[in-house]
Amino acid sequence: MKWPSKDKPYFDLKPTVIPDFFTESEYKGLYELIEKHNFNDDQLNAQMGYFARNVYIEEPYNQIMLDKINKIYPLNSDPDKHMFIYNRYTWKTGNPPVLKPHFDTMIDNGSITLTIILDTTLDWNIIAEDEEFEIKSNQAFLFSGTHHLHWRPKIEFGPDDYYDFFLVQFIDKNPVKLDDYYWGHMVKNRAEKSTEWWRQYESE
Ligand SMILES: [Fe+2]
Repeated sequence: MKWPSKDKPYFDLKPTVIPDFFTESEYKGLYELIEKHNFNDDQLNAQMGYFARNVYIEEPYNQIMLDKINKIYPLNSDPDKHMFIYNRYTWKTGNPPVLKPHFDTMIDNGSITLTIILDTTLDWNIIAEDEEFEIKSNQAFLFSGTHHLHWRPKIEFGPDDYYDFFLVQFIDKNPVKLDDYYWGHMVKNRAEKSTEWWRQYESE
């Protein structure tokens, strides 16, 4: 599709896998931080089979992430603008984990999205704009959650399987307000991909 020039920077951001995101001690420290925020009030997304936990990111993790992504895309320098969420996909939610074609809708502006894979018991690829990427533990996937349609292939989780990841929604230096043109196109694209998804996985 043809995007207006204001939306183009997001759409043109090439979805990329960043290997070896944290050092071993940073990875451990980040998990400790996540544990510290365990107040037993994780939000349940039953439909998609995951728990979500807002995490207040302390230094140095904030700066490590900002520095890495700033080299690729200029971000807002105010650390409070960005959103850090820890997620766990598991049957313990009462439902099988699934990530159908969608775009991220919790924000008013275009977003630069980072999915950092943490501990997992299985591999799960991610697809953005029809391109499939393999991502493993401590690898990060950079894309625009608001502008790139994204989903994962349907896989079987066992009762004890889990898939942890850390989701960051960065706001960039010159954030663009999402408008009706944007919404119209994204909703249409999502409908088309959802039909394909249904044909592939749920039509028997
Ligand atoms: Fe998403």
